[in-house]
Amino acid sequence: MQKISCTLLALFGFISLSAQAADNISGQFASQFNVAQTLAADYLQEAKKSDKHAALSAEAGRAFYTKKVVMDGKELSCSACHTDNPANEGKHNETGKPIKPVAISANPEAFSDIKKVEKNFAKHCRELYGKDCSAQDKGNYLTYLLSVK
Ligand code: HEC
Repeated sequence: MQKISCTLLALFGFISLSAQAADNISGQFASQFNVAQTLAADYLQEAKKSDKHAALSAEAGRAFYTKKVVMDGKELSCSACHTDNPANEGKHNETGKPIKPVAISANPEAFSDIKKVEKNFAKHCRELYGKDCSAQDKGNYLTYLLSVK
């Protein structure tokens, strides 16, 4: 019995260690460029489920980034807070608080943490569209941000 619990303990130890390692991979130690590219590839796979010819486009991502929508009587776009040039520091449209650039080339922390990216996508897409954005839109957006020098 004791042997079994030892094995179990060792097993749990191993599992939590690997979970930690996985967290680090998606966290601060990841190469942000890889994270962004991996995410974009995941979004493309997801988009292909509804359209097998789906492809990602930086141009479509740029259009999505600057597209103006009216939400609760206010005109809003991603660029309203992230500015027309994603390599620039953004500014919250209401609070005026500075936002770090979202362009991967301009901000060493941008897109380095998958969980944070997903959370922000969900939050800001809901602010503009009342729902999360499609995998196609997110993939295009990332492709655009990856292309910004
Ligand atoms: C009302 C202002 C505002 C608007 C509009 C907005 N954002 Fe954001 N966004 C922010 C802020 C503030 C942050 C930084 C959050 C943080 O650092 O925790 C951010 C961060 C992000 C991030 C995280 C980037 C990273 O490095 O992890 C993503 C992705 C994102 N926004 C996507 C979008 C998309 C897509 C749109 C348009 C559909 C959009 N945002 C519109 C304010 C906004």
